[in-house]
Amino acid sequence: IRDDPVAVGDYIAKYICKRINDFAPSAERPFVLGLPTGSSPLPTYKALIKLVKSGNLSFQHVVTFNMDEYVGLPRDHPKSYHSFMFQEFFSQVDIPASQVNILDGNAPDLVAECNAYEERIKSFGGVELFFGGAGADGHIAFNEPGSSLASRTRIKTLTHDTVVANARFFDNDISKVPRMALTIGVGTVLDSREVVIVVTGLGKSLALSKAIEGGVNHLWTFSALQLHPWALIVVDEDATAEL
Ligand code: GLP
Repeated sequence: IRDDPVAVGDYIAKYICKRINDFAPSAERPFVLGLPTGSSPLPTYKALIKLVKSGNLSFQHVVTFNMDEYVGLPRDHPKSYHSFMFQEFFSQVDIPASQVNILDGNAPDLVAECNAYEERIKSFGGVELFFGGAGADGHIAFNEPGSSLASRTRIKTLTHDTVVANARFFDNDISKVPRMALTIGVGTVLDSREVVIVVTGLGKSLALSKAIEGGVNHLWTFSALQLHPWALIVVDEDATAEL
């Protein structure tokens, strides 16, 4: 628990930095990092960018896999997660674009796209550290309430709550929010060697309490992390209101 979102971001950035710097990469075995979108990870991204600019961290030997992407938005759409990631992070660190993996929500065959994503993760030996956020309804990535805890990368219909929550990125107009997304599964997250989740703000306090004080439950997919041997949840004071 840290005081505020900036302190949370600094903590997670230093944590990820240490993991990457302690890892001995090779051409066959780069550091494989899972990454989220959303507003909660932004302070972490800012802190990671600072660590790169000050020469304390490099992404030259890091391969990234993003958690999810909207269906039907071209990659260069300003609201795609692809655009978000390049604007907020990748364009400001030293990662070669060829080492960035983001699901293509506009692929001609979405099922093939999802299956290929899982295969590509496997081809690198799996994810070393998955950094993620959580929705107010307790979803991780876009694993909406009711998702199987064994799920893999697939197409998911967004719940009305998520469409409403994400309308803020689409001029507060819910009719502009895509209704479907591609998302890694809960099983994909659980397979990574380590998981770090950021949770900030009062609006996430119920999800946080369900995830760590409730039982493992597919209605709060965040709670699946109770099954993971090495999961860290970093929160601000506000998010602890229901604990
Ligand atoms: C979206 C993303 C999730 C993210 C969630 C929370 O639903 N698919 O990966 O964790 O939003 O976003 P925010 O951090 O903006 O609250």
